[in-house]
Amino acid sequence: MKIFLIGFMGSGKSSVGKVLAQKLNLKFYDTDQEIIAFTGKRIHEIFEKYGETHFRELEKLTLQNLQHKDNCVIACGGGLPCYNDLMNEINKHGISIYLKLSSERLFERLQKDAEKRPLLLGKNETEMKKYIFDLLNEREFYYSQSQFKISIKDHSPEEVADAITQLIK
Ligand code: S3P
Repeated sequence: MKIFLIGFMGSGKSSVGKVLAQKLNLKFYDTDQEIIAFTGKRIHEIFEKYGETHFRELEKLTLQNLQHKDNCVIACGGGLPCYNDLMNEINKHGISIYLKLSSERLFERLQKDAEKRPLLLGKNETEMKKYIFDLLNEREFYYSQSQFKISIKDHSPEEVADAITQLIK
């Protein structure tokens, strides 16, 4: 079994993924962490030095490498399914689950650690709100191709992981 967690930055893919993997006795991978391990560089460093297109290529490569693994939960970077036809690749190789949150809730969650996200760097509150709203609208096209969708609201990672185990039974 291979489960892909899909969704915007700040939707909780990594925290849910860790709990879910433990519950189902699967391994956990996070594509950002795989890229950091592979390149020895932080995500914002890769964006700064080599640009976003290069980062998207690294995501593609990372996903290709992870396709060889089985019995795992994979938390995908927020933009990964939206480039290089990777949403199709994901659906070919496993169960995709979209962790859905409104842009207002995402803004609240992302405000706290925006400096970790290169795409949000240097934006004031108004700019960030608009950016999240627009980007989520754009990405919804890809995210909504997931096989399952879960509305996160204020649920804890444990509650979301429980809901996912019921969904995929
Ligand atoms: C990105 C999301 C980030 C990371 C990078 C770009 C995006 O991952 O891959 O900063 O394009 O939405 P998380 O979704 O894990 O924050």
